[in-house]
Amino acid sequence: MILTGAGMSAESGIATFRDSGGLWDRYPVEQVATPEGFAADPGLVLDFYNMRRHELLKARPNGGHLALAAMEKDFEVQIITQNIDNLHEQAGSSRVIHLHGELMKARSTGDETLVYELDPDDCDIHPGDCCEKGFQLRPHIVWFGEAVPMMAEAERITRQADIFVIIGTSMNVYPAAGLLDDVRRNVPVYLIDPKDVVTRRYDIHHIRKGATEGVKELQRLLT
Ligand code: APR
Repeated sequence: MILTGAGMSAESGIATFRDSGGLWDRYPVEQVATPEGFAADPGLVLDFYNMRRHELLKARPNGGHLALAAMEKDFEVQIITQNIDNLHEQAGSSRVIHLHGELMKARSTGDETLVYELDPDDCDIHPGDCCEKGFQLRPHIVWFGEAVPMMAEAERITRQADIFVIIGTSMNVYPAAGLLDDVRRNVPVYLIDPKDVVTRRYDIHHIRKGATEGVKELQRLLT
């Protein structure tokens, strides 16, 4: 089981959140990534995600994404990502769960079962863009303070993992970071990150590299 965060997409040119110069250095979280921020200024929030969507359209999967997809030849690989980009899918990974939603999807604010794929050629959401029932559309993203619908499934999968790999996340945000507590004690845990990451497990094998080089080293260690 592979838990990925923003660092997984850093080598694709997509900014992380908490590295210096990261997204939360440039935008106030409470204004652009909370339900309250959306209620206060929907146009600002919609533009924030429109901008990130245009960035994603220019990005390509990096060597780390591609190597994880290639690992499916030798392993049953389940990716659980905090990322809202679709670079794991573009690289060819076939089992990807998005804990924090998906940037290329929109959702009705009046009926959360109404979720729409956004067309890359027309992917902005504006105030006044409504679902088939007439409710304003919003990004299909989990904002701070909102429920994480895929969490129970992610915990179930983690409890069954034979190998647990953490790539490119500072493990700052719960409940996602809590998945590490669901890993069985005898299961090996690998961390791929150029920096130290504070976790509650002391027996982690830290591959102190970026995603592309780090996944290559992981493949060497595992095969
Ligand atoms: N390869 C691997 N890891 C990297 C790379 C790289 N090239 N560059 C940076 N990193 C690591 C950083 O060292 C850091 O540990 O990626 C991690 C990024 O951490 P954050 O910016 O905190 O991103 P993330 O952990 O994914 O944030 C979690 O917070 O804001 C919310 O919803 C948002 O999903 C996000 C969540």
